[in-house]
Amino acid sequence: MDRYAVIGHPIGHSQSPRIHTLFAQATGQALTYTAIEAPLDGFAPTVDAFRAQGGRGVNVTVPFKLQACAYADVVSERARIAGAANALAFDTDGRCRADNFDGVGLVRDLTHNLGVDLRARRVLLLGAGGAARGVLQPLLAAGPALLWVANRSADKAHALVQAFHALGLGERELLGSGLDELVRAGAFDVVINATAASLDAQALPLPPTVFAAGALAYDMVYGKGLTPFLQQARVGGAARLADGVGMLVEQAADSFAWWRGVRPATADVIAQLRTPLI
Ligand code: ATR
Repeated sequence: MDRYAVIGHPIGHSQSPRIHTLFAQATGQALTYTAIEAPLDGFAPTVDAFRAQGGRGVNVTVPFKLQACAYADVVSERARIAGAANALAFDTDGRCRADNFDGVGLVRDLTHNLGVDLRARRVLLLGAGGAARGVLQPLLAAGPALLWVANRSADKAHALVQAFHALGLGERELLGSGLDELVRAGAFDVVINATAASLDAQALPLPPTVFAAGALAYDMVYGKGLTPFLQQARVGGAARLADGVGMLVEQAADSFAWWRGVRPATADVIAQLRTPLI
């Protein structure tokens, strides 16, 4: 049986084995998918050992996404731009390919599952770390009128935006600022939290004016219920709230399709994993 796994540290709470096992059952694919915790200083040897045991591919999660790019022989353009990979495929010729499905997973969840047409919309992306960088290019490709990246430390937002402009991406519509400048930014149709604040149940200093009437507030974390960010959004008047479970399942479906050549349906799996936002 073909073997796949997710590698991270820690890995105990990963939902990926459950998701891929459901996908395999639904599509009739014979494979196993397990979770592997690599030592913090031992990503490459852990991947090497899994390949030696016949592994065909892995998903990669925190904190190894950057190292996954460096490990691969061939890196997709979007993984290169993201500066990170979340999926590796081990080809029969011995080469390792890397890709990143986080951003396309987010965009697919927003457009297909939540019914948001991002074209000509004002989109606010909170955070300028790895999670934000990982989704920036697919968000730009979805055609928003404005994609505003706001971060606690403004310097990081400016540096991220400048790096994308230097790549010839988002020269017209991509702006960066500190969170403190959002009071002058007006209202946004979609507000996405890509900071690590929700992991620590911390609120962000956000003016309520960022949420347009009818706005969607999206927190990229999942399984945390109504995070401080989503509570702020509700108080600020956002019409709809979503956590990142749809993004998680959509990126998994893209990884699965990349490895197996068949894209599983996602709606039932998202429904099974969804926890109430209370
Ligand atoms: P990740 O890979 O999850 O993006 P990261 O690269 O360490 O992790 O980035 C963490 C992001 O969350 C950063 O944008 C960080 O803001 P700073 O660059 O100013 O540090 C943001 N972040 C974390 N905790 C936060 C908090 N309590 N309030 C606001 N932003 C926070």
